[in-house]
Amino acid sequence: MQVAIINITYLLASVLFIFGLKGLAHPRTAVRGNLLGALGMLLAIIVTLIDRRIISFDMIIAGLVVGAAIGAVLAVRIQMTAMPQLVALFNGFGGGASVLVAGAALIEAGLLGDVDNLQLTIATVTSGIIGAVTFWGSLVAFGKLQEVISGNAIHFPGQHVLNAVLGAIAVALGVWIVLNPTFVTAYWVLVGVGSILGILLTIPIGGADMPVVIALLNSYSGLAAASTGFVLSNNVLIIAGSLVGASGLILTSIMCKAMNRSLSNVLFGTLGPTEATATADEVYAGKVKSASPEEVAMLFDTARRAVIVPGYGMAVAQAQHAVRDLANLLESRECEVEYAIHPVAGRMPGHMNVLLAEANVEYDKLKEMDDINPTMAQVDVAMVIGANDVVNPVARTDPSSPIAGMPIIDVDKARTVVVVKRSLSPGFAGIPNPLFAADNTLMMFGDGKKAVLELIAALKES
Ligand code: TAP
Repeated sequence: MQVAIINITYLLASVLFIFGLKGLAHPRTAVRGNLLGALGMLLAIIVTLIDRRIISFDMIIAGLVVGAAIGAVLAVRIQMTAMPQLVALFNGFGGGASVLVAGAALIEAGLLGDVDNLQLTIATVTSGIIGAVTFWGSLVAFGKLQEVISGNAIHFPGQHVLNAVLGAIAVALGVWIVLNPTFVTAYWVLVGVGSILGILLTIPIGGADMPVVIALLNSYSGLAAASTGFVLSNNVLIIAGSLVGASGLILTSIMCKAMNRSLSNVLFGTLGPTEATATADEVYAGKVKSASPEEVAMLFDTARRAVIVPGYGMAVAQAQHAVRDLANLLESRECEVEYAIHPVAGRMPGHMNVLLAEANVEYDKLKEMDDINPTMAQVDVAMVIGANDVVNPVARTDPSSPIAGMPIIDVDKARTVVVVKRSLSPGFAGIPNPLFAADNTLMMFGDGKKAVLELIAALKES
């Protein structure tokens, strides 16, 4: 009877996870989705505590206190711009936990003389390999993004061959463990091989591509958790792990599409300027016009339709509240204001949506790239704040450019473009942007927040 109740509750928790994920797909339902997911997790935890078997409450409470303390400190201290590396750490911890739980289950099965269980042994080696790759891969990703280690791609001769050999050794060891499950030491050797593989697979990827890799590692952590679910015969872990595995993969694919790159290009290629890329001098020399906040205020005075295009720099400057105040002021002067959101603006999926939601910008005003682009020619002023690559027209015009084919927001088609950034330095892709030298562009140099506040002051005076 108790087993039936436990499994029905696990099923209910899984259904709540699925509805939670569905809710998260839209900002209007995201809060409810989050609550549904949290409720599912609460149910799963309560039932697991009831089904705790030999583990004492002391151990559980100790684990909860340590985990909650680390989580709370990280969540409070982390900057919004450092969110990708925090997610990397979370993925890594998930992978590490899968390795330890599967290893412990193998040891327990050995002690109980229950190792002739094919589901257990196959799932254990799968958790061990994927979990170790995820743990170390995520730590390298964290180190690169946090600049604890160099963010440059690290290549050496024979790298792919070495990785292939290590992969083959891991698989062979896995098969051997399934056939000889009493030899637990082999499991830890397998984890060691997986760990080296995790490091070697991640070091050749440049810091710039890390967000995509993090989404992929997120998917791996889900697969490791699902495998651990098979180790423990725990249905909710199998379902939740599969959901994470699938959603991480979907996110990876969305990000690759939004950058017009293949996954193999992200994993094995490098993004950045080549010999064919025009230099900054060729693109900018003598062509860039800068404008003061007062001059830009005069432009806005006559504008009837304005579009704001936020990018990574808005996150760095924490300018979202100032941007919202600017939009409110313009609207009070009969100027329609919308926000154009590029799917990979910033450094993580939904980065701009989250920032603007934090500043209470109405969701209806956020327009997706494909919806706003056809109307760009009717825009009086397009204000680009801290965005660079996602508005770089070379993506459309230069097939040899590193960002060739990447869909962009067509601000260059607006009547006037105002670009707010501190200098002419390049964005994430490391290439110059001819938009800054275009006839219809004015550069308003300065920190995003400070520049927008000055613009608001100038508008109020005009
Ligand atoms: P970027 O092209 O990276 O440009 C950001 C710009 O912000 C920089 O040129 C910088 O110029 C400016 N900036 C920095 N701090 C600033 C501040 N305090 N005030 C004002 N401006 C500031 O950003 P983007 O247009 O958002 O494009 C995102 C890039 O990330 C794309 O290449 C995309 O492919 C890549 N990427 C994104 C993701 C996701 S999921 N979002 C994932 C992987 C890769 P200054 O230094 O001159 O100020």
